[in-house]
Amino acid sequence: MELCDAIQGRRTVRAFGPDPVPDQTVTEIFEAGTWAPSHGNKQPWEFVLIGPATRAGLAMRYQAMLEAGPLKNPELAEARKQALRNFAKDFGGAPLLFAVVCPPATTDLDRYDFPLAAAAALQNIFLAAWERRIGGVWLSIGSNPQIRELLGVQPGSTVAGIVAMGFPDSVPAPQPRAQAADKTRRLP
Ligand SMILES: Cc1cc2nc3c(=O)[nH]c(=O)nc-3n(C[C@H](O)[C@H](O)[C@H](O)COP(=O)(O)O)c2cc1C
Repeated sequence: MELCDAIQGRRTVRAFGPDPVPDQTVTEIFEAGTWAPSHGNKQPWEFVLIGPATRAGLAMRYQAMLEAGPLKNPELAEARKQALRNFAKDFGGAPLLFAVVCPPATTDLDRYDFPLAAAAALQNIFLAAWERRIGGVWLSIGSNPQIRELLGVQPGSTVAGIVAMGFPDSVPAPQPRAQAADKTRRLP
């Protein structure tokens, strides 16, 4: 797959078939993650594979987070609420669940740089996965203190993303994008 095709063709996938992602493939996509740039080549990321016991705890906390937040919103359509509930029950049945975690940052520069580098690693992982017909969703639930606790992350570390991944059961239509020109400004 051409790089630009992967960049434009990738979709966030939230429904998965049952086939497991082979260990070798997991290794390959994490290797792609390690080729992301990072300040001083510090490589401030750790790929944390999430097993069944932790996954069950995460799903419970995810559901509690939704019930306490978005699902209380009267403006959110009922169908959307049901879709959120279904997904959160078991991460859309994703056969692979992992987190990308930054080590504790002790300087302002590292606090700034570590999550950026980890995000670059995450995008590499998504693109390498997509090239292998594997999709996933990048979840920001790692900002929640109780989820952090379950993952055993230290104070000062950032959970850059929790990712549910697998072979897509369905691939959604593209989300619209603003033109780059409309997101561009020039300084004198
Ligand atoms: C930093 C980040 C956090 C995200 N958090 C969530 C999330 O918590 N739940 C979710 O369903 N999708 C999440 N997404 C996926 C976005 O919703 C998705 O990328 C966006 O709607 C555009 O769709 P596309 O990826 O298919 O182009 C996140 C994406 C990023 C980059």
